[in-house]
Amino acid sequence: MSEYRTGLGWDVHRTAAGLPMLIGGVRIQCEFGFEGHSDADVLAHAITDAVLGAACLGDIGMHFPDTDARWKGADSLQLLAAAVELMRGAGFDLVNVDSTVILEKPKLKDYRLRIREQLAECMGIELDCMSVKFKTAEKVGPVGEGRSGEAQAVVLLKRRC
Ligand code: C5P
Ligand code: MG
Repeated sequence: MSEYRTGLGWDVHRTAAGLPMLIGGVRIQCEFGFEGHSDADVLAHAITDAVLGAACLGDIGMHFPDTDARWKGADSLQLLAAAVELMRGAGFDLVNVDSTVILEKPKLKDYRLRIREQLAECMGIELDCMSVKFKTAEKVGPVGEGRSGEAQAVVLLKRRC
């Protein structure tokens, strides 16, 4: 059995005026936000899928279905923490996370440290193991036109000895 496992996660949410925008558990000052059954934290969802995928534990919708009233308005950091607990229960430790949020606006770089801190604390990893990057979509496609925002994440797990 391999000692290391990687996992990949991706998510997208539509934007809508007047909704809160949460990214990695941090409230972003913006006149629009993301639509979703939970709090629509696109980055937390991508990382959750990456964690579950690396441990071969299915995906976010399998554990926290958006048809279940329990998860309506759910705090996505709690879902992420639950996924990390499942992953640790399966015998792995989290080595590092890298991620990208693709959003045309607003600029997110001033939120980078707070987002990294929130996510690192949520997952119980060091700050220098939690990376987040930001990209526009160069005004092209639904993200570039401001109709949606996406996030991608990769994680590395190490089997506990
Ligand atoms: O997409 P582009 O390469 O033009 O982004 C340039 C930089 O702007 C990124 O490296 C990132 O630091 C920042 N950025 C941001 N918030 C966004 C998109 C990009 O802070 N929503
Ligand atoms: Mg989502």
